[in-house]
Amino acid sequence: MDLRNKARHYAGEIGSNDRVEYLSTGDLRREIDELRTDNVALLKENERLRMERQALETIRDRYEALYRHVQFLREQEKYTFSRAIHDELSQVLAVLKMELCWLEEHFDSENTPVRRQFDNLKKLLDHTIRASKQITSDLRPYMLDELGLASAVKWAAKEFKNRSGIETELVFAAPSIKFEKQRATAAFRIVQELLDNVERHAGASKVTIRMHTENDCLVLEVIDNGCGISRPLILSTVSFGLMGIRERTREFGGDVAITGKPGAGTRVTVSIPI
Ligand SMILES: Nc1ncnc2c1ncn2[C@@H]1O[C@H](COP(=O)(O)OP(=O)(O)OP(=O)(O)O)[C@@H](O)[C@H]1O
Ligand SMILES: [Mg+2]
Repeated sequence: MDLRNKARHYAGEIGSNDRVEYLSTGDLRREIDELRTDNVALLKENERLRMERQALETIRDRYEALYRHVQFLREQEKYTFSRAIHDELSQVLAVLKMELCWLEEHFDSENTPVRRQFDNLKKLLDHTIRASKQITSDLRPYMLDELGLASAVKWAAKEFKNRSGIETELVFAAPSIKFEKQRATAAFRIVQELLDNVERHAGASKVTIRMHTENDCLVLEVIDNGCGISRPLILSTVSFGLMGIRERTREFGGDVAITGKPGAGTRVTVSIPI
């Protein structure tokens, strides 16, 4: 008899009309010995599974810690680059522009090619100043550190609208939420990733970004009216953007819900404890 049947047998699964066989003492002993052996095997198997589970949990913990650390380093790097570009490049460019204007004003000549050259140089400098500002805020929007999450999300929504041409609606019922830096950064990067997904994959004409508080959580929602994400893609182990969102949220004990309706859009709801 295999283990499962034996277990059922001894668990009393014997109907009232079943024929009950009485065993001799020798048979009973043998049965008991067999049961003991089975029990030892079961205990060993149990212990093996327990250790396997423990090993998996350790790997999972290490992976989560590593993920958090990599994210932390990335953010730190972005912050350092953004400060360096701002302090070393943007400010020097601004001074250069002032110097050039001064030179132009004091340049005592009506020589047209030289004047044209001044204009060209000023245009080039303006372009470079704009580009360095864009790079700085793409790396780390100063609003996030100085004005908070709501302002940074508003800025991201405006950038998204200008870039994609998609109608963008903001529904904010938590404008003054105070998040510490890491939580605010996570929430902001989640919104950026979701907007990026809408732009690249949804084919939507409208997106709504909602932000409100509920049960001591900040709830962020990005809803589009595009093609609708499919279930396999929601669950796929190679959907790294979505996995990143889940990891960032889990770090703070939050939750993510993703739903897609074919042809009717995608809704992603992220809640992060305050
Ligand atoms: N709003 C959306 N509408 C329709 N499909 C979506 C939407 N968001 C994501 N998807 C689908 O789910 C897939 C997984 O998204 P995910 O963000 O994980 O990866 P990705 O955007 O393809 O790449 P990555 O984010 O790593 O640059 C996408 O490739 C896309 O097919
Ligand atoms: Mg993505």
